[in-house]
Amino acid sequence: MVYDFYASGSEDQWTLKENRDAFSSILLRPRILIDVSEVDLTTSVLGFEISMPIMIAPTSMQKMAHPQGELATARAASAAGTIMTLSTMATSSIEEVASAGPGILFFQLYVFRDRNTVIQLVKRAEKAGFKAIVLTVDRPVLGRKEDDIKNRFSLPANYSLRNLEEPNIGKKKDETNGSVQFCHFLGEFDPSLNWKDVKWLQTITSLPILLKGILTSEDARIAIEYGVSGIIVSNHGARQLDYVPATIMVLEEIVKAVQGKVPVFVDSGIRRGTDVFKALALGASGVFIGRPVVYSLAAEGEDGVGNVLKMLREELQLTMALSGCASLKHITRHHISTDSDRA
Ligand code: FNR
Repeated sequence: MVYDFYASGSEDQWTLKENRDAFSSILLRPRILIDVSEVDLTTSVLGFEISMPIMIAPTSMQKMAHPQGELATARAASAAGTIMTLSTMATSSIEEVASAGPGILFFQLYVFRDRNTVIQLVKRAEKAGFKAIVLTVDRPVLGRKEDDIKNRFSLPANYSLRNLEEPNIGKKKDETNGSVQFCHFLGEFDPSLNWKDVKWLQTITSLPILLKGILTSEDARIAIEYGVSGIIVSNHGARQLDYVPATIMVLEEIVKAVQGKVPVFVDSGIRRGTDVFKALALGASGVFIGRPVVYSLAAEGEDGVGNVLKMLREELQLTMALSGCASLKHITRHHISTDSDRA
């Protein structure tokens, strides 16, 4: 049940496969005889210096993978000098994660019907020293993952959604008998979420806001008008709408629309250093990884996550060296070719 929850995509899982296949259609154009004795992977994201352009995407319920869950991930991210994004639906609290590792943390926000819950979450993240809010915008309603339906997926009883345990969060009065019932959180997301709420969110926090889940240049342009601090091109790891394109296929369109006004990041299907290189060549400022983190957490806890980050780092470094790029700014559109370039 847990493996299927982590691994599967929605409906036909076409996008899940496409997220990987699409990378295979992009080829590298290495340049030679360039001094690559030093390869510099460092970069800055929203003004924060990090060791590499590879960050951790929010994934829910990490304690199902390992007893240390999000705490282990936070420590591994911090040790690797990169950013971890904590999910609203985490099995460790905002405060626990903040005290687990001294690294840079972003908080991923889901918007509930009860806006007071949202305000509380944002205030707690601010107070705990989180550096940005990642507003997920591709989940007004839950996508249909048939494996989860077949398995009757539910969070094992020994874990809880620690950010949602405040006395009044997730509990509502049952009008019929007056008793307090625990709501099923997955049903409490607000499907009316819209651009006005982005403005509202800006009034309740001074933290930078990234929108996660943009797949079109139209929405990227609106996001800029609304003054967001960055965009994460994402199809939620193929867990929401099936038959949307792989993110690597729409990245360039979005980068062009954004015209450098804010950084554009990408996730979904990134498994190799070459994938990261291709994303950077298409104009991404950095990438996020989801499943590689939960899988490595399940295998080896904090060490596992540390290893995955190290592997990706080494692979990116190798790709850069073999392509003649001594630093991230040397990676250009000319270092790759897409199907349409070759047509
Ligand atoms: C996710 N994702 C996700 N996104 C989000 O905004 N909030 C969340 O709570 C979760 N939870 C979640 C759980 C699991 C098990 C997975 C695999 C994914 C989506 C995640 O942030 C990211 O967009 C994708 O995981 C990226 O794709 P890859 O790297 O998994 O292919």
